[in-house]
Amino acid sequence: MNFLKVEGNGQLSGTVKAAGAKNAMTKLLVASLLSPKKCIFYNVPNIGDVEITVNLCSEIGSKIAWDKEKGVLEIQTKEIKTSYIPQRFSGANRIPILLIGALLGRTEEDIIIPTVGGDDIGKRSVDFHVEALRKLGAVVEYREMKKEGAYLAHAHNGLSGNIIHLPFPSVGATENALLASVRAKGCTVIKNAATEPEIVDLILFLQKMGAIVSLDVDRTIRIEGTKESQEVEHTVLSDRIEAASFGMAAIATEGNVLVEGAEHLHMISFLNKLRALGGGFAVKQNGIEFFHQGPLRGGIHLETDVHPGFMTDWQQPYTVLLTQALGTSVVHETVYDNRFGYTNVLKEMGADIEPFTQCLGGKRCRYGLLNYQHSIVVKGGTPLEGKEITIPDLRAGFAYVMAALIASGNSMIEGMYFLDRGYENLVAKLQNLGAKIELVSSPNPTPEIVSAL
Ligand code: EPU
Repeated sequence: MNFLKVEGNGQLSGTVKAAGAKNAMTKLLVASLLSPKKCIFYNVPNIGDVEITVNLCSEIGSKIAWDKEKGVLEIQTKEIKTSYIPQRFSGANRIPILLIGALLGRTEEDIIIPTVGGDDIGKRSVDFHVEALRKLGAVVEYREMKKEGAYLAHAHNGLSGNIIHLPFPSVGATENALLASVRAKGCTVIKNAATEPEIVDLILFLQKMGAIVSLDVDRTIRIEGTKESQEVEHTVLSDRIEAASFGMAAIATEGNVLVEGAEHLHMISFLNKLRALGGGFAVKQNGIEFFHQGPLRGGIHLETDVHPGFMTDWQQPYTVLLTQALGTSVVHETVYDNRFGYTNVLKEMGADIEPFTQCLGGKRCRYGLLNYQHSIVVKGGTPLEGKEITIPDLRAGFAYVMAALIASGNSMIEGMYFLDRGYENLVAKLQNLGAKIELVSSPNPTPEIVSAL
C-alpha cells in the first residue's frame, strides 16, 4: 500500500497547470454514448475517475484511444454491445447512474446498472434521477439481487419530452435528464436545473453533437429531441476545484503559485471569499496567481451552495485556511448533509473546530431540522502538528495534504487512491512547487527516511 510522506513547514512557489475537469470529462464520455459518431476530446485529465469511466464505456462497446501524455482521447461507439453493467463497477463512483440517461436513447434492451458509489459525504440518493427519467417515460426500478442491488431501466415504448421540476438543482439529476431528453420525442423542459460550468460544458458538447439545447437565466433548460449525430471535437474546461485547491495551498504555505488555466469566470464566488480572508490573487492572461499577502483574517461566514455559489468541493481546503486565520469563522454546508467528518483529523492536528446541527449563518437550509452536523465554528490561528492520517474522501484528502504541508513535523497519509481519482499527478505537481512530499510503500519510515525528512 502506498502512503504519502509529507514534510511540514513547507512553502509552495512556481507554476502549475490545472488539468481538465473531472466532473466534466466523466460526463462527456457518457454523453458520447448517445452517438455512433467519433468524438475527440482534448485537455483530458489523466485521473482515476476518467480511467473508470473509460473502462465502463469499453464494456458497453466503445472503441477508445487515449494518449495520456497529450491529454487527447478519441471515442466511438458504433453499437451498444451490452447494456448490463457488471457488478465490479458497483460503488466505483457516481457515473454509472448517468448511463441510464445516455443508453435509453440508444437501446431498447433492458439497462442494468449496479448500485452507485462515490465519496461517503452524505446520503447521496438518486431519487431525483429516477423521477426525472420516469417523467420522460422510462421504467426505472431498484431491485435487490442476491449480493447487491441494481437499477433496471428501459423505455420499450420510447421516451417522450415532458416538464421535469427538480426538487433541488442536483448536478447528476440534471445531467441524467439532459442526456435522456436529447433522444426523447418532442420538447423537454428541466426546471430548477443545476447550472454548474461543467453542465454548461456538457450542453456545449451536446450542441456540437446535434442537440438543440438552451439554458435560460432562471435555471430552466429546454431540449428538443433529435436523432441527429455529428462528429465532435471538444476541449474539456479546466478543473476549478483543482485550481482553487492549489491556490489555497499556495496561500496556506505563505507561498506564490500561478495556476495556469484557472478560469476566472468559474471561480468568482471562491475569489470573493479568498479576498475576504486576506488571501492574495491576481488574474493573469493565462491563469490566476495566488499569493500570501499578510496574516489571514477570520470572522468569515461561509455558506456552500449550488452554482453560482461557493462550491461544496472548495469547503475543505478553505476550512484549513480558516484554521490559520485570526478570529472565529462559521461554515454552513448546505449541499451535503454529512461533509464535516474530515474535521476530526484537523482537530487532532490542533485545529479548534466545533460542529453544530443548526444552520449557522444567513439561511435556513434543507438540513436545518434534521439533526445533521452541517455547520462548524472554526477558531483560527492554531498551529497544526503532523500525524498519521487516513483519507476518507477526495476533497478531504487534499485538505489533509494542505494541513500536513503547513503543520510542524511530518505526516504519513494513507488513501492515495482517493487523490488519484481526482487530482492529476498530484505528487509530481506539488514536488515541482517545492513541497517535500513523496510516495512511500510503508507507513513506518525506516530510520534513514526519518532522518531525511
Ligand atoms: N440529491 C438527492 N437526490 C438525488 C440527487 C441528489 O437527494 O437524486 C442530493 C444529494 O444527496 C446531495 C445534493 O442533492 O446532498 C447534491 O447532489 P448532486 O446530485 O448535485 O451531486 P452529484 O451529481 O452526486 C456532483 C459532483 C460532486 C459535487 C456535487 C455538487 C460529480 C461526479 N460529482 O455530485 O463532486 O460535490 O455535484 O456540486 O460530478 C467531487 O468532485 O469531489 C464531488 C463530490
